[in-house]
Amino acid sequence: MKKNRIFLSPPHIGQEEANNVLKAFSTNWISTTGPFVDKFEKDIAKFCERKEACVVQSGTAAIHLAIRVLGISEGDTVLCQSLTFIGSCNPAIYEKANLIFIDSENDTWNMCPNSLRDALEDCKKRKITPKAIIVVHLYGMPAKMDEILSIANEYKVAVIEDAAEALGSKLNNKPCGSFGRLSILSFNGNKIITTSGGGALVSDNPTDISEANFLSTQAKENKPFYEHKKIGYNYKLSNILASIGVAQLKVLNDRVIKRRKNYKFYYELLKDIKGITFLNEPKGYFSNRWLTCLIIDEKKCGISVNKIISEFEEEQIETRRLWKPMHMQPIFKNNQFYGSGVSNLLFENGICLPSGSNIDEKDKKRIKIKLTKIFSIK
Ligand SMILES: Cc1ncc(COP(=O)(O)O)c(C=O)c1O
Repeated sequence: MKKNRIFLSPPHIGQEEANNVLKAFSTNWISTTGPFVDKFEKDIAKFCERKEACVVQSGTAAIHLAIRVLGISEGDTVLCQSLTFIGSCNPAIYEKANLIFIDSENDTWNMCPNSLRDALEDCKKRKITPKAIIVVHLYGMPAKMDEILSIANEYKVAVIEDAAEALGSKLNNKPCGSFGRLSILSFNGNKIITTSGGGALVSDNPTDISEANFLSTQAKENKPFYEHKKIGYNYKLSNILASIGVAQLKVLNDRVIKRRKNYKFYYELLKDIKGITFLNEPKGYFSNRWLTCLIIDEKKCGISVNKIISEFEEEQIETRRLWKPMHMQPIFKNNQFYGSGVSNLLFENGICLPSGSNIDEKDKKRIKIKLTKIFSIK
């Protein structure tokens, strides 16, 4: 019999989501305005302890709006974490900015404050003032925001916080999504909560959010006819998708608990194996454990990451490599990079394990059997 596939991070939705969609239909609020859009924006802003939110069709669209709100244009310099998904940095390229990539550090796998400082010092010497720093909380682990914000402040550069993977994570009890001048979230199908596709921009600055709203709805001037002084986009989230988001946000805490349990399951099983490193939470850090990831020392474990992936694949279990850093991407081969190659090593030796909040005991049994075989657990 063909086995059901265990996915890396599938959507996890319930009845209330379906009821809300029906409500959107039955009230005919199916376009980009409506009560669910308003409520989702209010709820998301509140959850992230921000004044306002603008919900859009993707996290990438939210970053694009952040780039536009900050007035970033051709030739401007933007510093971006190298180890991330390309959605973090594509919008700066849409606006023809010059991207400089910053390495990771080992404690959180996120932007290294020392490399950030090196890049900013070099920019200063060359009389370049970067327009933004894009920092990411990968796999749910908060970046070293205290240090990064203090450096950004010192050099007077705005921070765009990419919290696409970190809704529900906290640093010293402050939620991810509350740290940047502008912060973004993703509700893509693989995220901890989803609207099928979607994203949000959150901020404490009402002018930033009102500009984002304006740009996200084709930059229509306030006139009795269609007049445009700026180029805008059709980015706003529909009321149908926002209705899913409203229900998903209610179960977010449960999803965090379940994903943290997944991490514990893997940790208990593998903690004594020599050559496996987990991403521990430093003091004051709380990760939503969006994905559980391991670093594999091939020499000590006697098996490569690619071989582990194909072993799982035989069992219809999806695993993935870590993000390939942006400075290693062919498309960015001419961009500057600051760091010592921590992110190169993470990419070469890292693996993401199935981490969905709807993985059940049967799935865990299949995963455990496979891991027991791969690592010869007695
Ligand atoms: C770190 C990060 N940034 C940005 C994005 C872009 O979000 P979206 O897929 O909603 O456009 C994603 C994921 O999809 C992501 O993981």
